[in-house]
Amino acid sequence: MGGYYCLIPCLLVCFLLHTHGSHSLNQTCNSTDLEALLAFSSGLDRKGSRLVGWGPNDAACCSWTGVSCDLGRVVGLDLSNKSLHGSISSAITLLDGLVTLNLSRNSLHGQAPEGLGRLARMRILDLSMNMLSGAFPTSEHGFPAIEVVNVSFNQFKGPHPVFPGAMNLMVLDISSNAFSGGINTTALCVAPVKALLFSGNEFTGEIRAGFGRCKMLTELSIDSSGLTGKLPRDLYTMSELRRLSLRDNQFSGSLGEDLGNFSQLMHIDLSYNMFSGVIPDVFEGLRRLEFLSLASNLLTGTLPASLSSCKMLRVINLRNNSLSGKIAIDFRLLPRLNILDAGTNRLSGPIPRDLTWCTKLRTLNLGRNMLDGEIPESFKNLRSLLILSLGSNGFTNLSWALRVLQHLPELTTLVLTRSFRGGETIPMDGISGFQSLQVLVLANCALSGMIQPWLQNSKNLRVLDISWNKLSGPIPPWLGNLNNLFYIDLSRNSFSGELPESFTQMKSLISSAYSSEHASIEDLPLFIKKNPAGNSLQYNRVVSFPPSLILSNNLLVGPVLPGLGHLVYLHVLDLSWNKFSGGIPDELSSLENLEELNLTHNYLSGSIPTSLTKLSFLSKFDVSYNNLTGDIPTGGQFSTFTDESFVGNDALCLRRNGPCFGKASFEGTENDGTDTISTMPAMTYIIAEAGFAFGLLAVCNILFFARAWRAAYFLAVDRFFDMLYVIIMVKVNKLRRKWEDKEHP
Ligand SMILES: *[C@@H]1O[C@H](CO)[C@@H](O)[C@H](O)[C@H]1NC(C)=O
Ligand SMILES: *[C@@H]1O[C@H](CO)[C@@H](O)[C@H](O)[C@H]1NC(C)=O
Ligand SMILES: *[C@@H]1O[C@H](CO)[C@@H](O)[C@H](O)[C@H]1NC(C)=O
Ligand SMILES: *[C@@H]1O[C@H](CO)[C@@H](O)[C@H](O)[C@H]1NC(C)=O
Ligand SMILES: *[C@@H]1O[C@H](CO)[C@@H](O)[C@H](O)[C@H]1NC(C)=O
Ligand SMILES: *[C@@H]1O[C@H](CO)[C@@H](O)[C@H](O)[C@H]1NC(C)=O
Ligand SMILES: *[C@@H]1O[C@H](CO)[C@@H](O)[C@H](O)[C@H]1NC(C)=O
Ligand SMILES: *[C@@H]1O[C@H](CO)[C@@H](O)[C@H](O)[C@H]1NC(C)=O
Ligand SMILES: *[C@@H]1O[C@H](CO)[C@@H](O)[C@H](O)[C@H]1NC(C)=O
Ligand SMILES: *[C@@H]1O[C@H](CO)[C@@H](O)[C@H](O)[C@H]1NC(C)=O
Ligand SMILES: *[C@@H]1O[C@H](CO)[C@@H](O)[C@H](O)[C@H]1NC(C)=O
Repeated sequence: MGGYYCLIPCLLVCFLLHTHGSHSLNQTCNSTDLEALLAFSSGLDRKGSRLVGWGPNDAACCSWTGVSCDLGRVVGLDLSNKSLHGSISSAITLLDGLVTLNLSRNSLHGQAPEGLGRLARMRILDLSMNMLSGAFPTSEHGFPAIEVVNVSFNQFKGPHPVFPGAMNLMVLDISSNAFSGGINTTALCVAPVKALLFSGNEFTGEIRAGFGRCKMLTELSIDSSGLTGKLPRDLYTMSELRRLSLRDNQFSGSLGEDLGNFSQLMHIDLSYNMFSGVIPDVFEGLRRLEFLSLASNLLTGTLPASLSSCKMLRVINLRNNSLSGKIAIDFRLLPRLNILDAGTNRLSGPIPRDLTWCTKLRTLNLGRNMLDGEIPESFKNLRSLLILSLGSNGFTNLSWALRVLQHLPELTTLVLTRSFRGGETIPMDGISGFQSLQVLVLANCALSGMIQPWLQNSKNLRVLDISWNKLSGPIPPWLGNLNNLFYIDLSRNSFSGELPESFTQMKSLISSAYSSEHASIEDLPLFIKKNPAGNSLQYNRVVSFPPSLILSNNLLVGPVLPGLGHLVYLHVLDLSWNKFSGGIPDELSSLENLEELNLTHNYLSGSIPTSLTKLSFLSKFDVSYNNLTGDIPTGGQFSTFTDESFVGNDALCLRRNGPCFGKASFEGTENDGTDTISTMPAMTYIIAEAGFAFGLLAVCNILFFARAWRAAYFLAVDRFFDMLYVIIMVKVNKLRRKWEDKEHP
């Protein structure tokens, strides 16, 4: 990466060389500067600050922390990441020799001083990652020498700053603020600017012509900023552009042929917009392209064959468009490809055989298309493949597919939901196991047969979903012995027999050492689950799946094992629509994290243990249609369950707050209004979700159903991938660090 990336280090080096020598001596600094620094420090809240060595009795301010001088004048002030609280005193504008001001990564609040722009020598200004607010002070002739401005991650508002008097401006980063109004394209490139980073603001309207003037621009990012309309044609005349990111706006119109004019382009992200029409087949002009994301637009037509000329390509993400036709890219020419995501389109035909030339491929998502045929044998060569999703297609010959894929040494995630719908049988032989597999989803594939012993060899399995098939036979006891397994969905099959005792000893549901942050799966993908209402739940990481045992709609018999009470990490226990009999064991009240307990439509008898009222996270409870007797416990979460949870038990007394008249019925449904849906969720999950939800909501407006996530019954499983995630996580991690820094300075 060239361009301005080396600029800041270069400037710093020059600067340090320049001031070296005067720095380490005890210098008595200019008295004006001394006064200014003291005034600045008195504007700060000293508590917790790491501003050591600044003292009113010490005139040698040039040796103070973060201060650098040249010929007795203060030229640099770098107090970044020093846990500073308080506001920036306007006295700082008296440091008229200042060249560099770096106050980034603190907790400064209030406005930026009005007179900052009068600092006529200032070349570098970094106020990023604070809590500064109000308008950013610029003026006609302000900041005459400025080269780098970084005010990102603050709460500045009003129109975005422009620097009409700054003839040397090279980098302007105003990301993640609340700047609003339109983008002032005419005022932006007065100087030969190299980078404009405007993402995460609250702009409105279209981008008007004017970027054509930005002949030196190498990076333009305006993600997640509410912009609309078509891209102005002169945008495409920025011939030096290396990185263009306009993700998550509402840009529309077609991507014209002019796209091919970006001959220097390395990274383009136009995902989450409303671009329509075909993807122009002009990529032979973009020979340096490494990253292409056009995901989640309204694009049609075929995959552009000219992508084959972009030999440097690492990432192709065209997910969630309406692309059709065969995948006609010559993958032999793309040896660097890491990620190919063309899921959720209308692509047809077979998986191209030459895809296996991409031996660096780590993620392949072709799910939700109309592809058919068999998995090519040459897939064995994809030795780096970690994540493979081929769900919702028309592939055939599952036995063959599994035989081929078992050879992939790194494969951690395999999702084949709704893919092999020909009524196949789970293969019995020829498979020795998937050594790295952590997530196996074979749901809704019309599969018959029994769970096969080869699955035992997948010792790392954490998530298993083989629901909605025609599988039968007993649930093998060894399944409960897979140490890492914490999410099992066997629902909607014809499994019979009793639930093996081994399920009461599942390590990852008993001990946290197994259940969370273990193993190093690359948490790239976004899992999506749909529930019957059509809402979808999204999991960014394997560990954010709620630990679950979902066995509903089978032919299981025998007792509900009291030992299930050991599984203290379990969040969802669904045994509904089976033939379980006997009582509801008192021991279930030890499942302190349980959110959903569904026992409906079984042959359970006896009374509902009062101890279940201890389950303070229980938000869904269903024992309807059994043979239960006695009274319904009162108190705890039970006051939130309606009679629907209890109907169909002839001898259960439904009148919870009054005299019992015997028969259970829908009558007398009373809700005492205390709708205390658990508001204290289990921390591990909410942290993961909140962190991610924050990033997603800010970046791509995907809805999260935070409460529904707590416990839900799902119809089908599918999953998507998104490169976005990588970027978001970086961002979220940064933010999280920022929060942590603030909370534990
Ligand atoms: C610098 O100042 C400190 C205290 O102010 C003093 O102890 C030290 O000797 C001085 N060093 C020089 C090189 O003058
Ligand atoms: C300190 O700087 C000011 C402003 O540039 C200047 O007027 C003054 O003469 C300087 N004082 C000393 C002691 O150098
Ligand atoms: C400001 O200081 C931080 C170190 O905390 C550094 O990462 C950053 O690059 C500096 N800003 C500029 C513009 O040099
Ligand atoms: C900020 O300071 C903390 C504590 O001194 C340190 O661990 C962290 O690496 C610093 N961050 C940066 C970006 O310099
Ligand atoms: C601006 O500052 C933020 C946070 O300190 C940093 O992540 C970003 O890379 C900086 N921008 C530029 C262009 O250096
Ligand atoms: C754009 O910036 C220039 C220079 O500051 C200013 O004169 C002009 O009014 C601005 N235009 C808009 C639409 O804000
Ligand atoms: C892109 O390049 C073509 C051919 O060189 C030229 O005709 C067209 O005007 C260019 N488009 C723009 C927006 O400059
Ligand atoms: C798919 O793309 C459409 C159109 O841009 C968007 O509205 C929708 O939210 C996207 N879906 C997902 C799951 O990203
Ligand atoms: C599956 O594919 C293999 C290899 O192509 C072939 O030998 C076998 O007959 C196929 N099975 C079915 C059921 O089509
Ligand atoms: C229990 O499961 C059944 C289907 O097996 C479902 O219809 C019902 O809504 C579930 N009960 C609750 C409270 O979620
Ligand atoms: C329901 O329970 C009663 C006694 O508690 C028993 O007589 C009856 O056979 C049970 N019915 C079923 C269907 O299990």
